[in-house]
Amino acid sequence: MSLSINMEKIYLDNAATTKVDERVLKAMQPFFLEKFGNASSQHSLGQEAEMALEESRDVIAKSIRAKSDEIFFTSSGTESNNWVIKGVGFENLASGKNHIITTKIEHDCILNSCRWMEKQGFEITYLDVDKEGFVNPSDVRNAISDKTLLVSVIHGNNEIGTIQDIETIGKICRDKGVYFHVDACQSYTKVPIDVRKQNLDLVTLNAHKINGPKGVGALYIREGVKISPLIHGGNQESKMRSGTENIHGIVGFAKAVKISSSGNIRKMAKLRDKLIREISKIPHSKLNGPEGDKRLCNNINFLFEAVEGEAVGAYLDINKICSSTGSACSSHNLKPSHVLKAIGVSPMNLNSSIRLSLSKDNTEKEIDYVIETLRNIIFKLRKVSPFKLKYDGKEK
Ligand SMILES: Cc1ncc(COP(=O)(O)O)c(C=O)c1O
Repeated sequence: MSLSINMEKIYLDNAATTKVDERVLKAMQPFFLEKFGNASSQHSLGQEAEMALEESRDVIAKSIRAKSDEIFFTSSGTESNNWVIKGVGFENLASGKNHIITTKIEHDCILNSCRWMEKQGFEITYLDVDKEGFVNPSDVRNAISDKTLLVSVIHGNNEIGTIQDIETIGKICRDKGVYFHVDACQSYTKVPIDVRKQNLDLVTLNAHKINGPKGVGALYIREGVKISPLIHGGNQESKMRSGTENIHGIVGFAKAVKISSSGNIRKMAKLRDKLIREISKIPHSKLNGPEGDKRLCNNINFLFEAVEGEAVGAYLDINKICSSTGSACSSHNLKPSHVLKAIGVSPMNLNSSIRLSLSKDNTEKEIDYVIETLRNIIFKLRKVSPFKLKYDGKEK
């Protein structure tokens, strides 16, 4: 199969960010030019902005079965995650509790916040995961002590797609009287979140992974959770996170949630499974993370022995396919992925993986082209690799 010169790029880096959906853009546009008021202003333009803000808050709240006043808008998933770790940590210090439990496969914004908290005197437990990236809920139970304040777990992993059993962990935390935070940036609208049924106290969400705009996030804070305000100022967001609200972004966020659909999830899962099935046929390849329902519908992550992931990514790019070697935030340094390390990938293979992440807009034709192109790239790179592999019993 050859690629026509005029073909557009095939974008398979949707775990890093997604294209804004046209319906989202359309919903946002009036808030730049006509309805540009400040939601704190008394006049009609201000009231219009406030109404849009509250309607959007309702949409986000309903989508996770929260109450509207439990949703706080932020600038990003990173901000929401920092707020949880630091805000819960410091607000509850007086109770004598200073222990936080998290996992070894969190996004860097959780891990780096936790490392910073260690320097402030907090004690952090980083739980191991199994070879598919699952946290064992019993390990959470066993790690909780009378000093534990908070458990923070990523819902759908951004690198290898593993979906954690948050309902079981939520029950353990609630029974033990410990706050439970879930980073749902990758799973939101793809995996059901029900804060009541799953006993969630805090949930991080963002817009740009779901065809919404960049620079908008939210934090669900269950009524009654003790957490310090994040930004002091003009008392917006119920005095918890001051600063003039990003109304156009927030409206876009809510629209992105409204247009998400189970049909799109099924479509992505079908393309994911085809990619997994076909790429598995490349000799000496291995899927990182689980298969089936416990994997995010849009995540594929493969290890190819004896090739550099960076080289595969560069060749895919030359062939107009956008991929990633890991999480977008860490791909500028060549540090091996902490997630692949945690699932036990050997040091020799730590730089040999590629992540392909789908959106609702990818097509079967694109996927067929990707499969063939990827297969050719791997074979070409292996020909020049100093590491020799055995194919059909022969060394090549
Ligand atoms: C699981 C997870 N948490 C947090 C973030 C950070 O979100 P944002 O890009 O909105 O800061 C990301 C984005 O890569 C993510 O995948």
